[in-house]
Amino acid sequence: MFCCLSSSSSLRMKMISSILLLLILSSCLCAATFVVNVTQSSYQAEENHSITLEWTFTTKTQGSWRKLFIYCSLLAPHKPLVLYQVHEGVEIPESQDEQFSGRVQSDKDVLREGRIRLHVSRLRTEDSGLYLCDVETEDGFNSAECRLNVTAAADQLQPPTENLQPDSRGRIGLYVSLGLFVLIVSYFLCQCYILKNQAR
Ligand SMILES: *[C@@H]1O[C@H](CO)[C@@H](O)[C@H](O)[C@H]1NC(C)=O
Ligand SMILES: *[C@@H]1O[C@H](CO)[C@@H](O)[C@H](O)[C@H]1NC(C)=O
Ligand SMILES: *[C@@H]1O[C@H](CO)[C@@H](O)[C@H](O)[C@H]1NC(C)=O
Repeated sequence: MFCCLSSSSSLRMKMISSILLLLILSSCLCAATFVVNVTQSSYQAEENHSITLEWTFTTKTQGSWRKLFIYCSLLAPHKPLVLYQVHEGVEIPESQDEQFSGRVQSDKDVLREGRIRLHVSRLRTEDSGLYLCDVETEDGFNSAECRLNVTAAADQLQPPTENLQPDSRGRIGLYVSLGLFVLIVSYFLCQCYILKNQAR
């Protein structure tokens, strides 16, 4: 009797553990089928120019967008700055960080095809960094990141080199006047020497 009971309970344990294993496996498989990609992993741009950052995500279920959540942010050193947010299929412009205010345009038409296209204009050097997009739909959750490098405009780097010119010009002027001074002094010294010799 005892023996019988123990074998049946161990059988039940085996069944429970295999069901648990199946559940874990299927949830892993389910999560793996939902992907978020970046079309480009790094972008290079110049200050005041504009750029289009793009992410793609799996879209199997057509129709209901009630469960579409997107959270894209710049991972700034102190805190993430919100670039773009969608809550239950609706854009939330209020949550956007003031650094990006009025500079981000999203392409709503391609969102249904699983593409997040964000056009960022009048780029600033502080826009540089890592951009992360979290996406959640009824199919799952995932995220992807890309890097943006905004370099200072060329004509903003020029003033320091232009500043050198008046400086060097001033130096040349100094050398010329020093040279003239030496010439004049030696001329007078010569005159004095000649006069002295004549006086003898
Ligand atoms: C993501 O990238 C992989 C590998 O390049 C590709 O097979 C897959 O179709 C892409 N998925 C989406 C949703 O862009
Ligand atoms: C950004 O671009 C500039 C110019 O090409 C380069 O010198 C610099 O190393 C880049 N910075 C990063 C973090 O990629
Ligand atoms: C970039 O835009 C700002 C603001 O409009 C302007 O002050 C600055 O001169 C521009 N820089 C360049 C290099 O065009």
